[in-house]
This record gives sequence, C-alpha cells and structure tokens, in this order.
Amino acid sequence: MIGSIIKDLPKEEDLSTKPRPYFNHSVELKKQFSQEERIKVLEKVGLNVFFFPAEMISGCDFLSDSGTTTMTNEQWASLHLGDESYGSNQGYFELINSIKETFGEKFFSEPSLGKPNAFIFHQGRPCEDALFSIIGRLGEGLIIPSNGHFDTTEANIQANQIKAVNLFSKELKEENSKSHFKGNMDIEKLKDLLESSSNKIPVVYLTITNNTGGGQPVSMENIKEVSELCHKKDIPLFFDACRFAENAWFIRKFENGFSGKNIKDIIREMFSYVDGFTISFKKDGLVNMGGGLFLKEDGLFIKKYPEIPDQIMNLQIIKEGHPTYGGMSGRDIMALTKGLKTIVKLEYLDHRINQTKDFGNSLLKKGIPVLKPFGGHAVYLDINKFFQDTDMKPEDFGGISLTALLLASYGHRACELGYFSFGSYDPETGKDTFPEVNFVRFAIPRLRYEKQDLDAAAEAVKILHENKNKIPGIKVVHGKELPLRHFKARFEFKN
Ligand code: F0G
Repeated sequence: MIGSIIKDLPKEEDLSTKPRPYFNHSVELKKQFSQEERIKVLEKVGLNVFFFPAEMISGCDFLSDSGTTTMTNEQWASLHLGDESYGSNQGYFELINSIKETFGEKFFSEPSLGKPNAFIFHQGRPCEDALFSIIGRLGEGLIIPSNGHFDTTEANIQANQIKAVNLFSKELKEENSKSHFKGNMDIEKLKDLLESSSNKIPVVYLTITNNTGGGQPVSMENIKEVSELCHKKDIPLFFDACRFAENAWFIRKFENGFSGKNIKDIIREMFSYVDGFTISFKKDGLVNMGGGLFLKEDGLFIKKYPEIPDQIMNLQIIKEGHPTYGGMSGRDIMALTKGLKTIVKLEYLDHRINQTKDFGNSLLKKGIPVLKPFGGHAVYLDINKFFQDTDMKPEDFGGISLTALLLASYGHRACELGYFSFGSYDPETGKDTFPEVNFVRFAIPRLRYEKQDLDAAAEAVKILHENKNKIPGIKVVHGKELPLRHFKARFEFKN
C-alpha cells in the first residue's frame, strides 16, 4: 500500500540534500572569543597559525585532517576495552585480524613464527624514519621516487642522504584536464628514471591519495603499471597509504570496471600490487593517534632485503616499544580496530567525499579559484589566482597573509602549502626558491563539521577575496632559512 502511494515521488537517492549517515552522539560547546582577542593572540604568535590556540577557533579548523577525526560511539566504547599490558595486549590480536581483513592476509604474519613483517608506531613519520634510516644504509646516492612525497616523508628521506624525487602527473598541472586521477605518477618520467638509475632506487613510493598533489587520487591502472615497471627492474613498490579508503572510493566512482564493486575488494586489489606500505592511522584509520609499517610476507621487499625486518624491529623496540604495542596505547589500538571497520563503509565514504566536494563547489560558486576536481580530504585554494591582478608578489607569501587574516577576521584556520611551506631561502645568496604549486589547503576533519560550518567558512573566504586588493604581503621575521620553516617561522604584515 505505502509503496504504491509513494512510487511516483522522486527517489530517496535523487534528492538534492541527504541526511548525514550519522548523528551527533556527544558535542563540545565552544567558548566564544572576539575578533580583538584573536588578533591579539595571533600577533603574539607571529601570525603563525600552528601556534594559535585551538580553543579560540570559533569557526572551522582546517589545519589538518590528521588525528582530528571525531570518533564513533563504538570507538569511544572500545577505549574501555583497551588492554594496557606491556606485552601482547588483547587489542594487538584484534589488530592483526583487522589489518589482514582490510589490506590482505600477507601484511601481518603470525607473530609466533618469529618473522616480523608488521610494525606499529605512534604515527606516520616514525614509520618513515625507521624505514628510510635503514634503507639509507644500503648505499650512497640513492633515490626514492614518488607521485608526490608528503613533506615529512620527503624530510625523512633527505635526512638519510637519499634524494626524494616527485614525478607528479602532467594532468595535475593542466588546468583544463578533466582527469579524475591527477594524483597518478608520471609513467614516462618513471620509465626514464628507471632506465637511467634503477640500481640507485631501493623502493618506489605511491602516495594514495596524493596529498602534496592536491589530495588527488591514483587510479588502479596507474598503480598496476607502476608496480609492473618496478617489478621488472626488481624494485619493490610501497604505498604511503594514509588515505587508502578515500582513494578506493574514487576508483569505484570514476575508473572503468570498478563501478558498483565492493570498497573492500578494491582496497585488497590496490594492495595486491605493492610490497609494503607505511601509514598514518590518523587519517583513514579514523583515530587520533597511530601508525604502521607493513611488509608483504612474500613480497619483493622482504625477498630482496631479508635482513631489514629484524633491523626495523630493533629500531621499533629502541624508539617506540615492544612490537605488540609499538608506539600505541592499548586503548588506541582498540579504537583503531573499530575505525578500520567504519572507514571502508560506502555510506561513510559517500558522505565524506561529497562533503568535501560540496564545500569546494560552494567556494567555486563564489568565484574562489580552487583546484579541480576536488580531492577526498581537502580543498586546495590556488593562491596565485586568488591574488591575480593585485600587487602580491611571490616573496610576499600571499598564502600566509590569507591564512592569518581568515583566522583573525572570521575564526577559520587553514594552512599554507605553497611558496612558503615548500619553498626555501638561501641566506648566502639572498635568493628564494619557490615550488611549482602555491596552495592554501582546507583539510576537512572526518565526521566533525556540518554543512552550516563549511558554508560559514566559504562565505568568509569570499569576503576576503572581494577585498584581496587590501590584503598586504608578509615579512618573515624569523625562520626564513630554516628547514620545515612553516612550522616554526614568525611573520609580520608589510605596510
Ligand atoms: N604521509 C602523508 C601522505 C601525510 O599526509 C602525512 C601527514 C604523513 C605521511 C605523516 O603522518 O602526521 O602521522 O606523522 N599529514 C598530515 C597533514 C600532517 O596535515 O596532511 P603523521
């Protein structure tokens, strides 16, 4: 009866606005701060938004999607089941199953066999530190290519005297390209590099999704092709897998042959092409802390470097903790096992990625230049276009000006990932070097904000865009020459 009454109405899935696939379980009331209070504090911290107290952010905190997730009620409940034993806590065994189920059976061997291949760390970068400091001992003049190394990954590679090379796809730079997989690795450049230097390449990396390259996904075709090329030259392939589930969603949505497929199956296929991966669970682990380094049991990396797993474990024990908890508390491990179950749910991913898209579109409709298509976790504002037809020069670091003003005026915190963050300065020559890309990134924390919050942020950016001629550049008063300078520098507005 009911079915026949509503059968001619628009279908549920065709409505323009859908309810969220979750509801608020517990909320945090914000203290309120005035513009004057924010300005005072921002000036005190030298306009460096990283040092601005989070409790004073009345709008959205887009600084990072890392570790900023709102956990589900299941995760909060699971914290109570955390077992804080020093060795072999209960969550460790649950984690073994979750890792195998999510990424494939071969990524967590039975610990009693005594052949370690899975290493838990407290976040992503200690995994990178462990891997690259050991790889760095393999020889001199080594190179690790990627479709786009993240900044800490690149820094960890370079800290071990290895050269980090980024083979961004051509489509990433082609503004009019309609490619849905701008995060791909440039295959031609990879072939050239493998031809000229394969004996210098210990591993190749694919970052999924490509955070430095605008948060863009990598296609299964690209993963497969890179894997084949590497394996032909006897070189193992690794993922930087932080946003693996979002990447799988894009493959399902846009790649031929994957429509309607199960997200879990797509993830398993993606990981079937790699020999290992590093991951910060602070992204698609849906937790506030955690990371891991996983080597495929019968993969090329373990075959080629059989001594390395033991060396990693030694390092893990010295720096983090017993291998059965690594750098994580028992309760965080429990929350991670639940997080990995939620993150692969289609309804969660649909909402997550559409939320990012809707925010991007609302900026676009307001005339704000943003990178298209939108990635999974963030919207990237093109600073060079934002300040087009103004007097803003590269060395004025307009992205830094914009982030400081957005925070001071309307209480939203975004992050410059462009000329300042990825550029450098040589005090001897007095010369600035600028990277190819100049973005301000609006990273969206998982399950945290509602449409109303994001609409408010879009409106704030629009107002600043309309007033772009009034925005001055900044002067770097501390840290211009330092490595990873965006985390440490202090600024003043030029007048
Ligand atoms: N790899 C990628 C692709 C990342 O995005 C990050 C962190 C890391 C590695 C390092 O992980 O923070 O747990 O040590 N990205 C955060 C961001 C910080 O804001 O994009 P971590």
